[in-house]
Amino acid sequence: MRRWRWILIVVIALAPLACGRGAPPDREEVWRGFLTWLETAPLDTDPVRAYLAQLRRDGASPAEVERQSAVITDFMSERPEAVELFFDRVYAEPVSADSLGGFSTEPSAFLAEAVHDVSPGTALDVGMGQGRNAVFLAQQGWDVTGFDISSEALRAARANAEHAGVTLRTVKASYETFVFGDGQWDLIVLAFAESRHFAVLAITDESPEQVRHFLIQNAQPMGSF
Ligand SMILES: C[S@@+](CC[C@H](N)C(=O)[O-])C[C@H]1O[C@@H](n2cnc3c(N)ncnc32)[C@H](O)[C@@H]1O
Repeated sequence: MRRWRWILIVVIALAPLACGRGAPPDREEVWRGFLTWLETAPLDTDPVRAYLAQLRRDGASPAEVERQSAVITDFMSERPEAVELFFDRVYAEPVSADSLGGFSTEPSAFLAEAVHDVSPGTALDVGMGQGRNAVFLAQQGWDVTGFDISSEALRAARANAEHAGVTLRTVKASYETFVFGDGQWDLIVLAFAESRHFAVLAITDESPEQVRHFLIQNAQPMGSF
């Protein structure tokens, strides 16, 4: 009878392992866990850091937190769906200087100065967000296309353009999938467009000089950037 009791105890103790419940999540599960959390978590300017803090609070070991951090960092650059989800949530409400991270609704002063005295042509706004720069350029007579991975950003950009009485071409695409074309743009705007996600940077080794070269190639001869 005693022997049976011990066997029963051992079986109960090992059951979670046998069912896989005790095993740490694999890489796909780690990523899905992060995405699921991101859908409803309070917005934070650094969602990965906030998620790792949550894991610690939930009792994950330092080694497990470090492992998940590495997985999420890897996937963040390969899979833009987390960025899309994050910015869809950010732009679901009108954003302003008071919003998370502080979003200017004014056009970039640097851009305004750069295009001052430049004859309008075709302009591309990369990661256009709510279109503050795209709308400004359209108001100056530029033929503007903007793209963004976030549908909510594009919706806000179109609403802002309508409000300003101008038209924009908006495209839902990521840095990695947008077809920049060849010599198609007189002006390419990158304002707070996170360069580490650029496919072009992946092939140019992230050297600012090479990025500059890429942009010159993709803008019209004598174009501005
Ligand atoms: C900080 S906001 C800047 C928006 C705008 N350029 C401005 O200056 O107001 C960054 C924008 O880049 C977009 N973005 C981030 N990663 C992207 C990606 N991989 N492909 C396309 N857009 C992306 C976001 O959705 C967001 O709208």
